[in-house]
Parts: sequence; structure tokens; C-alpha cells
Amino acid sequence: MTTATALFHDLTGAAPHGVWSSPGRVNLIGEHTDYNDGFVFPFAIDHRTSVALGLRDDARIRVVSTFDPVPVEVALADLDTLFPARRDEIVEWARYPLGVAWALLRDADVDAVSGVDLAFASDVPVGAGLSSSAAIEGATASALNDVWQLGRDRVALAQAGRLAENDAVGAPTGIMDQMASMLGRADAAIFLDCRSLEADVVDLGFAAAELELVVIDTGVKHAHSTGGYGERRAACERGAEIMGVAALRDLAPADLARAEELMDDVTFRRVRHVVTEDQRVLDTVETLRREGPRAIGHLLDASHASMRDDFEISVPELDLAVDTARAAGAVGARMTGGGFGGAAIALVDQARVAEVGVAVERAFAAAGFAAPHIFTVRPSEGARRDA
Ligand code: GLA
Repeated sequence: MTTATALFHDLTGAAPHGVWSSPGRVNLIGEHTDYNDGFVFPFAIDHRTSVALGLRDDARIRVVSTFDPVPVEVALADLDTLFPARRDEIVEWARYPLGVAWALLRDADVDAVSGVDLAFASDVPVGAGLSSSAAIEGATASALNDVWQLGRDRVALAQAGRLAENDAVGAPTGIMDQMASMLGRADAAIFLDCRSLEADVVDLGFAAAELELVVIDTGVKHAHSTGGYGERRAACERGAEIMGVAALRDLAPADLARAEELMDDVTFRRVRHVVTEDQRVLDTVETLRREGPRAIGHLLDASHASMRDDFEISVPELDLAVDTARAAGAVGARMTGGGFGGAAIALVDQARVAEVGVAVERAFAAAGFAAPHIFTVRPSEGARRDA
């Protein structure tokens, strides 16, 4: 695989000033709760996006990546007119790194920073629900924060990534993915309160329990800048308004009976997913701490059922992956990420990983679905400087 450093050398003929990287993420539980001010429990994975950065002696920014070899170059001073209004002029992938530069420069003096060349290489699968976008944002934010000496902390860098995603890319997402990519730790997940942005690092203990986290990438591509994601978000806002609360986070399961009386069936089911999912995140963290990872399986299963039936963001491939993994002995399984495609996760005994993989492959073939991509991931460290 071409490395970021090799690509940088192809672009400039020189060695980079430094190399930074940031990971993709798997969300263990807590889906579509982040933009409702609720709770999430993701972890950073051992698939990363790297960026090799060099300084320029002009005030321009140029980006290139292994998945699109055509460099994109703009003046730093023009970022402000490009985003958000003229973002369509920029090829889609480049909106992520350029959007992060724009977001960081909104609170900085553009004349005080140097021009940069950025070359990206990634092994985070794109469109799989593993947040390749947060990985590119995290790598960019970390690199620019260092070389521009902005002194932002990790939460501020995650917020810059989210702003890029929302306004430069146009995907109305929450902050979970960027926080996971910035704050990840080996063998641990991040229990995040998306209202206060308080984050607790919680040991997962998968290895000690002889468990593996299996990812089943269905290959069904999704994009959160279109359609369903925004509609779900709007339904949640409608539900909160009807209930007279700032966000669905402010409702407890005991409020659902009243919610059902006040709203139409679809809005109610969207609300019920979010309210019960918040509770499942709290229960998962508590169960993990008290009883270990083998005890959380039923919560993963219940989360999937809620996304399939109430939030209606699953697809047949994801349901089949989850059902088959469970039938083949997984401790628990659910789709992960925004939905409408992407990946499912299954918590599986080390000894049964191969068996689960074969069962899912067979089931996909029998259903006439394209072959899934199945691999294991390890909870890993967040954004860092590598060289
Ligand atoms: C996407 C978004 C996140 C979050 C999830 C759903 O990954 O980027 O902010 O909303 O979907 O939990």
C-alpha cells in the first residue's frame, strides 16, 4: 500500500515535515443518540488514516490522497468563501481536510499560519460505517494544530472535525465519531456524554474474556449527506419539541407513555429508539464494569432490534449479518454507525470467529447478496503524531 510519506514524496519530491494519523471507529452501542445530546460508547479501531504534511512558503493549502491522485489546491484566505456556500466546487473527499482547515482558521489569524501540503493514505474502509471521515478529519486537525501552533485540546479538534463535516461536507452528523477518533485508547471504549462532552475511558476486557469484535462490512454504501439520516434527525427534533424538552436526552423511558399519546406513530417510534438506546448505553457501561463483556450481548441485540423496528435504519443485509452471527454463536450483534448500509458488529468467542465468518458468508451467498467483507478490529489509540 502506498504510504502517506510516499505519496507526499511523489507530490513534492521532498520528505514531509511530519506524519500524523487518526483512527476510524466502531460504535459498540448508542446509535443516533449523539445529536440528541445523549450517550454513546464507541471505540477507535486499528485502521487509521495517515497524513504526511509539509510546509509551503506561500499561503496555500494543497491536498492529495491515495484514493484520488488529483491534487486540490486553494489559497488559505479563500477557504472562508468556499465553505459552506461554494463547497460544491470542491471534489467531495477534499471537503473533509479543507473543511477542517477552514474550521480551525475561523478562530485563528489566517495571516499568521504557513501554507501546507497534505498527502493522505488510509486503511479505514470507506462507506462502511467505520468513520473514514472522522479519521481524515482527526489526522488533519492534529497535524494542523501542531504545525500552526494553535494549542487546541482534543475536544476542540473533534469539534473542528464536526464543523467540517456539518458545514463543509454538508452531513448533519453529531460529534461521536470525531470524539472517538481523537480520544481512543487501546483496549478501551469512550463513554461519552454528548451534552457535556465529558468522556470516561472504560476498559473493554475483550482479550481477557477471549472475545473478538468482528466487523461484517455488507458493502452496501451509505452517505449521511443525503436523505435518511437528516430525516431521522428532524423526527427527533420534532419529538423533543412536542414533549417540550431541549433534546431527547431529557426524556426517560417512563416518559414514553405520554409521548405515545402526544405524537404520530412514526415520530413516537423514532423517539422510543433514542430514549431506550440512551438507557442501553448506561446499562452497557454498568454491566461491563460489574460483569465483564460477556454480559453485554443482550443489550447489543436489543439495540439492533430497536434500530430495525423503531428507527428503521437497517437494511436486509445488516439484519441477515446480525441474525446469522447470533445463530452461529455470537455473544451479541448489531449494526453500527448511521445505518442505511455499512457494517454490523458481532462480539464473538475467539474460538468461533472463523465459524461465524463462514456462516455469514454462506447466508449472504444463499440470499443472493454480494460477498461481505469480514474482519476483526481491536480497540486502539486515538489521533497521534507518528513521525
Ligand atoms: C454517523 C454520525 C454520528 C452518529 C452516527 C449514528 O456515524 O457521523 O454522528 O450520529 O451516525 O449513531
